[in-house]
Amino acid sequence: MYPFDKKTYLKRYAAIREQTVNICKPLAVEDFVAQPVVDVSPPKWHMGHTTWFFEAIVLNNYSDSYKEFDHRYGYLFNSYYDTVGDRVQRPNRGHMTRPTVQEIIQYREYVDEMMIKFINNELKEVDKDLAYILELGLQHEQQHQELLVTDLKYILGMNPIFPVYKDYIESNKTALKDKASYIAVDEGIYEIGFDGSGFCFDNELGRHKVYLNPFKFMDRLISNGEYLEFIDDGGYQRFNFWLSEGWEWVKQQDVHAPLYWHKINNKWCHYTLSGLEEIKSDEPVTHISYFEADAFASWKGKRLLTEAEWEVVSQLHERIPDKESNFVENENFRPLQCPKDGIQLMGDTWEWTGSAYLPYPGFKKTDGAIGEYNGKFMVNQMVLKGGSCATPRDHIRASYRNFFHPYLRWQFTGIRLAESL
Ligand SMILES: [Fe+2]
Repeated sequence: MYPFDKKTYLKRYAAIREQTVNICKPLAVEDFVAQPVVDVSPPKWHMGHTTWFFEAIVLNNYSDSYKEFDHRYGYLFNSYYDTVGDRVQRPNRGHMTRPTVQEIIQYREYVDEMMIKFINNELKEVDKDLAYILELGLQHEQQHQELLVTDLKYILGMNPIFPVYKDYIESNKTALKDKASYIAVDEGIYEIGFDGSGFCFDNELGRHKVYLNPFKFMDRLISNGEYLEFIDDGGYQRFNFWLSEGWEWVKQQDVHAPLYWHKINNKWCHYTLSGLEEIKSDEPVTHISYFEADAFASWKGKRLLTEAEWEVVSQLHERIPDKESNFVENENFRPLQCPKDGIQLMGDTWEWTGSAYLPYPGFKKTDGAIGEYNGKFMVNQMVLKGGSCATPRDHIRASYRNFFHPYLRWQFTGIRLAESL
């Protein structure tokens, strides 16, 4: 069990809860309600749902004095927890013009006040389970902060007038890497999975041995310029690079470029959170599906890293997020070119791995609602590693396992190539 300290927890609670509100500050009230596609939740819903998590999972179960802010909110803001009860179906989250944004802010303030009272006045003994649940509330909120950024990008990016979320100020303080190199990793038995005393999600347990054949990996992400070569070479018209499901997806959805790309006056442009702009060829390509990542690798005669290879690469070359890495706190809201002498591993874009999202050996589903957190999604999804420019810096680690369906593109997703030796 990791140590629980009231003062430290309350400080982190305040900072993380405030960050959610900060991310929403540039939004107009109209932006809070839209749900342009089922996977994107309205910002207002994220604000309510992260608050509901503390109410439903912590206060309702552990506080003797807690009274719900509004008994109807459980139905509105439960996401997928069957243990907790019925809920508004996901595609209908954008139908809720009420409660108003102002009422949800009041709900947040009420729950914050109750959480502080509960921790200061009621909490005596914190056992292993409660310490985990309290921390899970914070980690859950950080996951939704990332979703908030990617969801509001979709909401604004699908608007024909391409509103600016925040202006981007380019920094030119470091020399940047243009030519990629490959770094070799020896064959051998390695260990993956969480190994430490801090927090991890249940899906990172248990740590286990893997045998890796020798391989090499690219030291930076694939750039827009490199991806354009794939497009220009007819990548989206040539079936032989694509997985069968991917090829069906390309045809059915009429896909011919990454999400947010538009050809305007014969120039490729893309929507960024600082507005519509011409593609910068040296920046990492992002908002691509697993199908596209795999097809690009196939076109290059290479492959993606497996999940185990990625984690071993990260253990060997960057144990913790590098202070130079580009996370949400940098407020770039876009992936950036790799520094000249660095290895681009964490931040910038999530990297699709070639591995299906499956339980690790010894994985155990917890009893109750939090047992629904990760385990029930272990089918038909691929693992992504490394975090993105929308991920909070202290939320990511080498063993962190993100997962999405292979056709989804609204997260900041990118490509790293690898090759067997
Ligand atoms: Fe959630």
